[in-house]
Amino acid sequence: METVLSGIRSTGNLHLGNYFGALSNFVKMQHDNKCYFFIADYHSLTTHPDPKILHPNVKNVLSEYLAAGIDPDVATIYIQSDVPQVAELYLLLNMHAFIGELERTASFKDKVRKHSENVNAGLLTYPVLMAADILIHRATRVPVGKDQEQHLEMTRKFARRFNNFYGVDYFPESLPYNFGKDSVKIPGLDGSGKMGKSEGNGIYLADEDAVIRKKVMRAVTDSGPTEPNSPMSDSIRNIFTIMENVSTPDTVQYFLDKYNRCEIRYGDLKKQLAEDIIKMIAPVRERIKEISSNDAYLSKVAREGAEKARESADKTVSEVREIMGIVRF
Ligand code: TYM
Repeated sequence: METVLSGIRSTGNLHLGNYFGALSNFVKMQHDNKCYFFIADYHSLTTHPDPKILHPNVKNVLSEYLAAGIDPDVATIYIQSDVPQVAELYLLLNMHAFIGELERTASFKDKVRKHSENVNAGLLTYPVLMAADILIHRATRVPVGKDQEQHLEMTRKFARRFNNFYGVDYFPESLPYNFGKDSVKIPGLDGSGKMGKSEGNGIYLADEDAVIRKKVMRAVTDSGPTEPNSPMSDSIRNIFTIMENVSTPDTVQYFLDKYNRCEIRYGDLKKQLAEDIIKMIAPVRERIKEISSNDAYLSKVAREGAEKARESADKTVSEVREIMGIVRF
């Protein structure tokens, strides 16, 4: 049995990228492993320090997790800031994280480029907090999308460094988990990079059918293949990549064959994709509405989850303190 941990920042509603990167695998494995699922609200403060939206966002993500199939009676689901031991482990791990390696992290460089007015220390040490999230339960598997692989690699580096420095075999190797497949990268509908919360190119689990149809029909395409088996442009490859995740293999093959024979009509491709996304999302969306209106249920889930998470976190922090020589009088 593995200890599995998955997390999502509470910076907005969940999109298809989050779903396939971090949620769908987790939902499948929750019954056979020791699973933790948490909402990274501290992490969201590095870029979204707005007291008015912080809690509503946490509530949304919690409702969306549950609606997507996480069972709080089986997995432990909690909010990061409800487990203060995470903050302590973060502090302790910071003593063994080097400024140079943090400055070289791709996500940090990206944030510096995009938000030069707010390069805060929380952003720099973001990977250390993420390592604390993972190592607090000594998780061995972490379902993440491709964009988080470097952070996970740093978690392994910090864990190894801790073990070597103190001469212990305490923290495990936390490996990415994706059912033996390559990491997932769900692209956006704008023909460019990944689907993201801040890119405005996403389909959300809470989107209504009409919105999904509109977004998919507006997806960027090209002028069509000019000869049989011609290579695909990025925008068309992106549409097929999303389709591979939501449609049946037969449907994907049907449109691939059409593409390769230069018979494809992008309008038909998009219509099919929109309907397949709706088929997947509509039931989740309806559950989101139901769950998010039940405040008593959400508080119960958050309270009970925090209790379970704190138990495991407390054990780790006590052991780490002992290893590091922090002794109480
Ligand atoms: P976040 O909130 O940006 O994304 C949450 C999860 O969704 C995945 N993801 C994607 N996967 C495939 N295609 C996409 N287009 C796509 N967009 C997002 C992400 O890889 C991630 O798995 N730093 C993390 C939150 C975090 C965390 C952790 C995750 C904090 N501590 C500990 C795992 C373990 C983040 O910003 O994810």
